[in-house]
Amino acid sequence: MENKTTKIYSSLRTLEWKNNKVVMIDQTQLPNELVFVEFDDYNQIANAIKTLVVRGAPAIGVSGAFGLALAAQQSKASTKDELLQDLEKARKTLFETRPTAINLKWGLDKIMQVAKEETDVFQIKESIIKTAKKMAEDDVQTNMTLGKNGSELFENNDTIMTHCNAGALATVAYGTALGVIRATKESGKNIKVIATETRPVQQGSRLTAFELKHDGIDVSLIPDTAVGYTMVNGLVNKVIVGADRILRTGHVYNKIGTFQIATMAKQHGIPFYVAAPLSTFDMKSNPEDVVIEQRKPSEVTGIGDKKTAPEGINVINPAFDMTPPELITGIITEKGVAKPPFDDSIKKLFERK
Ligand code: MRU
Repeated sequence: MENKTTKIYSSLRTLEWKNNKVVMIDQTQLPNELVFVEFDDYNQIANAIKTLVVRGAPAIGVSGAFGLALAAQQSKASTKDELLQDLEKARKTLFETRPTAINLKWGLDKIMQVAKEETDVFQIKESIIKTAKKMAEDDVQTNMTLGKNGSELFENNDTIMTHCNAGALATVAYGTALGVIRATKESGKNIKVIATETRPVQQGSRLTAFELKHDGIDVSLIPDTAVGYTMVNGLVNKVIVGADRILRTGHVYNKIGTFQIATMAKQHGIPFYVAAPLSTFDMKSNPEDVVIEQRKPSEVTGIGDKKTAPEGINVINPAFDMTPPELITGIITEKGVAKPPFDDSIKKLFERK
């Protein structure tokens, strides 16, 4: 059963496993209210991913793993085969929620692997829950390492543009792109952030601006249409974004609008960085294999409950776009920073212990 509580919290932990339930921040309520929701059924997790209660590639990956942990807990199976069947049904439901972020597949595959390796029902259930909890802890550590690696690329008095939300709220905690910003600030450098509002779902204004302000980091909000203005007027000197999927060639899939920011950055000679853990890399797919999620027209035809477009208008509403490798200065990971040519440098990241 879903249970809702509202409270103001001093540090943001997007999701956690607590008393055999999954607790997450309901991101649809931000920035107006910090509401925590509790789930004990994997179908609720699937629904939370679909409706953006939880979003951001790494957070979706761990949510998938927690969803399977709930499915294991819910299962009445008495044999390993029966339990694997129940888990496969849950895996499919969770997998079908959102198509672009590869971390979801990564999280689900990892848990299914653990389930297959164990011998009896009790051990499978125990191992799944233990692994899912560890994945959540590892996510935070990975982001802190990634953040530290990235902080070396940023200097005192930099003004850094970011798009969408690749922060604590897109991960379990700390964040990827915002993790780099946090680590840069923690290293003593004085930096400012420019956040794009990120139409149509406003992850930039609702989440990034909320999160950075919450942590006392200097942030200014701009409309998406002011990216060129800020760049040509020297108001920004570096860009950093997160990613939903990165191919072995360095093609980066991220929130719609990333491609135009990268193009504009190239035009103005501004370094464009991507920060993501290795769980965001898809070393098998080619660009033609990647499904770009198309979201509902109402996200574009209105703001909140207010209609801002004529009834019946045709809408094109892709949630993500692809930024080609030639626009990217570096990809920051927990194993180091990959630089062009990416085919070679990404391969080397995976070879590092
Ligand atoms: O549709 P969303 O809000 O899930 O999209 C999220 C993004 O595009 C993020 O920038 C991306 O997942 C990187 S998260 C660390």
